[in-house]
Amino acid sequence: MSKKENGRFITFEGVEGSGKSTNIAWVEEFLRSKRIDVLLTHEPGRTKIGEELREVLLRTRDERVMPMTELFLMFASRMQLLQEVIIPALERGTWVLCDRYVDSSIAYQGGGRRLGVERVKKLVQAMGELYVQPDLTVLLDLPADMIPMRLADRTLDRFESEDKSFFERIRKTYLDLAASESHVSVIDATQPIEDVRNEIAGLLRPLLSELAGR
Ligand code: TYD
Repeated sequence: MSKKENGRFITFEGVEGSGKSTNIAWVEEFLRSKRIDVLLTHEPGRTKIGEELREVLLRTRDERVMPMTELFLMFASRMQLLQEVIIPALERGTWVLCDRYVDSSIAYQGGGRRLGVERVKKLVQAMGELYVQPDLTVLLDLPADMIPMRLADRTLDRFESEDKSFFERIRKTYLDLAASESHVSVIDATQPIEDVRNEIAGLLRPLLSELAGR
């Protein structure tokens, strides 16, 4: 994409129940209080076709969805979101907060569904100039055995109904990714919420001071 003028792209990753939604809502308020123009979005979904794909992807069904089918549908939703929403917002100078992005495909389809990280990364490469690299990815890390407790009062979708080993593979893939990609920062999601927020604020500080420095 063309050079980002002012917009910053921040993505949030983690397993179900890791507190992404609560923390993203807090970041949105925090940035708005600094008079930053913010757009909050999520994957899969958000666009019209994306929400249809989301419904197809999350619904529990009596046939096995092949991992490659799942992978391509995730990328289909992503391509629409990037071109219709994310790239135009960044070009306007808006900061975009995205609940999940390519790292979810790497962790869930690459790790969880065992398609392999390299295969998913090839698809990211195939996005070409439409791939926007996040300025920061906040990974909320939660052990797999804590997920059921955090999902206790929800009706489970097709992903949430998976077993513990699926989420263990996802967590490991996420942590390996964080170790190799400098824009991915891990936060211990088992900490009290205030501590999680302080850590997120610390990660945002360099981005905010870049803004002040211009
Ligand atoms: P959602 O209800 O948004 O989950 P959460 O609130 O935990 O983010 O459902 C999205 C589901 O889709 C979630 O289980 C993760 C999964 N997913 C993938 O498997 N691969 C992907 O690339 C993306 C974006 C999501």
